Amino acid sequence: TKREDLRTDFVTLTNDILQRQQHQPQAKGDLTILLSAISSACKWISNVVRKAELLKVIGVTGGTNVQNENVQKLDILSNQIMCNLLRDSGKTAILVSEEDDDAIFIEDGKKGFYCVCFDPLDGSSNIDCGVSIGTIFGIYRVKDTHGKPSLADVLRPGTEMVAAGYCMYGSSTVLVLTFQGSNEVNGYTLDPHIGEFVLTHRNMKLGKKKIYSINEGNESTFDDAIKGYLKSVKYPPPGHTGKFTPYSARYVGSMVADVHRTILYGGIFMYPGGKLRILYECFPMSLLVEAAGGKASTGRKRMLEVTPESLHARSGIILGTKEEVDKVEELYKQLD
Ligand code: AHG
Ligand code: MN
Ligand code: MN
Ligand code: MN
Repeated sequence: TKREDLRTDFVTLTNDILQRQQHQPQAKGDLTILLSAISSACKWISNVVRKAELLKVIGVTGGTNVQNENVQKLDILSNQIMCNLLRDSGKTAILVSEEDDDAIFIEDGKKGFYCVCFDPLDGSSNIDCGVSIGTIFGIYRVKDTHGKPSLADVLRPGTEMVAAGYCMYGSSTVLVLTFQGSNEVNGYTLDPHIGEFVLTHRNMKLGKKKIYSINEGNESTFDDAIKGYLKSVKYPPPGHTGKFTPYSARYVGSMVADVHRTILYGGIFMYPGGKLRILYECFPMSLLVEAAGGKASTGRKRMLEVTPESLHARSGIILGTKEEVDKVEELYKQLD
């Protein structure tokens, strides 16, 4: 008899994508091959991250990047792994990476029709203390498969991304993925012994827990809408009588970890001001949160409808349970 407590049937990421893509009439398997390359890169990055201390690839390189951040050795390694495997897939035309000032245009012999915007290693400040970090990616298809790829193929609203996902290197390695229009988010956990991502989180939908996630150290820079929202989750409204239960505060400092928790448990994640990058942090996470039944906003408009002015353009972002994001947007309306 089938023992319920032991997984005796499993679906791998590759099989799952193949099955989903087969239903797409125009699918020629290109996106499947591209996603397979991304999943291989994530497996390798996971392998290196977990051995970083042993391989002595921990710590900073001493350099700074276009973001004016101290670059960690793992930022560079992860970036090289992603760039090499994406190029070798033969399915990409343009690569946009947090760690490269300019877009990378793939040479003709290896050129394909997809543009991948990625953060090779998100949460770098958490590497040395062993806290969860991750890789984030968003994929556009070139506008004209007969034309010459250009920045116009990536400086586009997030609504035009065909797929987005992240891989979190935490207590386990989990790759979470959504396809534009699918309204579905699926999570696959890496079994390092068989080297496969196995479907473990089918059709993820935001939970209902009352959690808020923000770096309160930046409070002096918050506008009144954010301050008003934070007050409302910590203190009872004026005139309130009876029991009041404040929200829980959870903040990891790696966007991948804070967003993964927000999708699984519910709640709200906010990074007001302009630190997070639109193309390879805000857009992919917004596509995922919306597909999981949540909402993602700049505070004043739907995040995915923003058109980035430059590759590393930044935006404030508020994402999570729809009701919570609605409250913040309402406070911005009162502010303006
Ligand atoms: P990255 O490590 O790719 O540069 O991204 C770091 C980002 C994001 O992961 C996180 O949400 C945010 O920085 C944390 O910023 P603070 O340390 O200012 O809270
Ligand atoms: Mn960085
Ligand atoms: Mn990041
Ligand atoms: Mn990064």
